[in-house]
Amino acid sequence: MIQILSLLLLCTGTAADLLLCNLIPGNLKQIDAGAGQVYGVNDTDYIFRLVDQSWTLLSGQLIHVSVGAAGVWGVTNSNTVFKYQDNSWVSVNGALKQIDAGGNKYVAGVNSQNSVYCLNQDQVVSLATTLTYTSIDGSLKYYSCGLYGCWGVNGNNEVFYRYGVQPTACSGTKWENIKGSLAMVEVGADGSVYGVSPEGDVYKRDEVSEMNPVGTQWIKLNVCGKYRHVSYDMGILWLIALNGDIYKCQVSCPC
Ligand SMILES: *[C@@H]1O[C@H](CO)[C@@H](O)[C@H](O)[C@H]1NC(C)=O
Repeated sequence: MIQILSLLLLCTGTAADLLLCNLIPGNLKQIDAGAGQVYGVNDTDYIFRLVDQSWTLLSGQLIHVSVGAAGVWGVTNSNTVFKYQDNSWVSVNGALKQIDAGGNKYVAGVNSQNSVYCLNQDQVVSLATTLTYTSIDGSLKYYSCGLYGCWGVNGNNEVFYRYGVQPTACSGTKWENIKGSLAMVEVGADGSVYGVSPEGDVYKRDEVSEMNPVGTQWIKLNVCGKYRHVSYDMGILWLIALNGDIYKCQVSCPC
């Protein structure tokens, strides 16, 4: 397949990052990068892992897959929860439509009613197939965790940050409504936060830090086209366009 190299200059206000984006082979509806690995699912729910720059088909079908410090987890179109264990999918109890393995050995997700759940570290490392979920107050359609806690969006595309999330106390303490409108939000292992707006524009949360985990503002990335999904890990931003095209962008500071 022909690789199209496009160079995009990204100006992010104060800190100008440089985004070098590459269209890579394949077609996905969702992608997740974490712990140095990349997984995705396509429109017919087939599951892929990026190995040596090409997509390897895994067994099974999922509507959403996530990889990170908590391992590899996914959910099916009937909302069954699976984890990847010893090179095979193991189903566990619970019913979720979206799941996130980016937390420090804890897992978070939402169900078809937009109820929010998480699995503490002891549940995540357990080999048991009956796990104890922690219920979190509130309503979200998408929830993702990283270094400085968890972010989510609700059915009205309102954005929320969850304070006080810890690996052994994943429920956290309180929500803060963050100004802005996003259809999905993903938190990287380094704490960086990226999201896609209902219109398909890609945003990065500026100046997220341990001292200020909610950051300061949304910065619209200067990328052409409209997108449906974003994921970030280890300096690489993965974008899924509306038509399923996959872009691999190197995020580097030119300073
Ligand atoms: C998803 O991947 C499978 C396995 O490679 C393939 O047969 C199927 O056509 C793909 N679906 C779409 C919509 O591309």
